[in-house]
Amino acid sequence: MWPRQHFQALALAPGLPRAVKQERGIGAAYSRVMTSVPNVRLSTGNGSVELPQLGFGVWQVPDEQVERAVLTALETGYRSIDTAALYQNEEGVGRALKATDVPRDEVFLTTKVWNDRQGYDSTMAAFEESVGRLGVEVLDLYLIHWPAPARDSYVGTWKALLQLRADGRVRSVGVSNFAVEHLQRLADETGELPSINQVELHPYLQQAELRDFHAAHGIVTEAWSPLASGGSVLGDDTITQIAGKHGVTAAQAILRWHLELGNVVIPKSVTPSRIRENFDVFGFELDVDDLAAVSRLDRGERTGPDPMVFS
Ligand SMILES: NC(=O)c1ccc[n+]([C@@H]2O[C@H](COP(=O)([O-])OP(=O)(O)OC[C@H]3O[C@@H](n4cnc5c(N)ncnc54)[C@H](OP(=O)(O)O)[C@@H]3O)[C@@H](O)[C@H]2O)c1
Repeated sequence: MWPRQHFQALALAPGLPRAVKQERGIGAAYSRVMTSVPNVRLSTGNGSVELPQLGFGVWQVPDEQVERAVLTALETGYRSIDTAALYQNEEGVGRALKATDVPRDEVFLTTKVWNDRQGYDSTMAAFEESVGRLGVEVLDLYLIHWPAPARDSYVGTWKALLQLRADGRVRSVGVSNFAVEHLQRLADETGELPSINQVELHPYLQQAELRDFHAAHGIVTEAWSPLASGGSVLGDDTITQIAGKHGVTAAQAILRWHLELGNVVIPKSVTPSRIRENFDVFGFELDVDDLAAVSRLDRGERTGPDPMVFS
């Protein structure tokens, strides 16, 4: 999906002591083994909504396959689905929501406005098209997919999202792939920071500086490609050793790491056994040594584009 020239590594190189300290602190908040999916709170300006910390992503799932995948996820227990206009599968997600026995108000539904629809008026129109394809009246979370700074339209897009929330069409609003300077500009020009920023995040791209900014400003960090799109991190020696120690798979160890850091995660799979495996991450916990070992794997390696240049 990404143009090749946008595959650029961003060397964040977070300092180990801070990362370890941070992870120890967050790990302490999970001193007992979680038995079900916790919720995180997203600020809505005058209140909050709850988002399950573990959800299901559907990027690159063709529309004709997505209904089956989402139904398997819902049967497994997932209650949060992440799609986007770009994925061209909102209609299939909508078919799954109609076919399932799970009530609509128990499923947290996220979609995103694509770059070429940015700007106030076109975002309003794009939103109506998305909810029409999804077959829902009210969306749970609407995100700006990328800042696309060269278009210089994300402030107007953000104003549209705030209006949609004020109109009751969406319960919460946020952004994706925003860097600190983009977040800061939203606050400066509209007075409101997003409740959530969905960014690429996995053991090879840990985003420590951005996570620190989020933590300081009440912004939830949501990790996209939490398994680095199923890449080499699943065979990483450190990860497989940690997985072996706990008797889990590499994917489960990585997802558990995200949860203990406090990240929202949305792993994608079209494989029913993996959909179930990725949900089975609440029966064990990583220890301080595991967290420190994973923190040392960061190499600022993106699988997707650099948000500072992608348009
Ligand atoms: N906001 C953004 O710009 C943005 C960008 C990218 C992604 N996202 C969101 O983030 C979601 C997740 O990211 P992603 O789809 O890139 O990647 P991911 O969840 O990190 O990895 C998915 C890949 O890993 C494989 N996989 C899944 N579970 C596995 C397991 N237990 N063991 C081994 N392999 C496993 C899947 O294969 P199979 O499907 O063949 O099982 C698939 O190839 C997306 O679906 C989308 O909702 C957002």
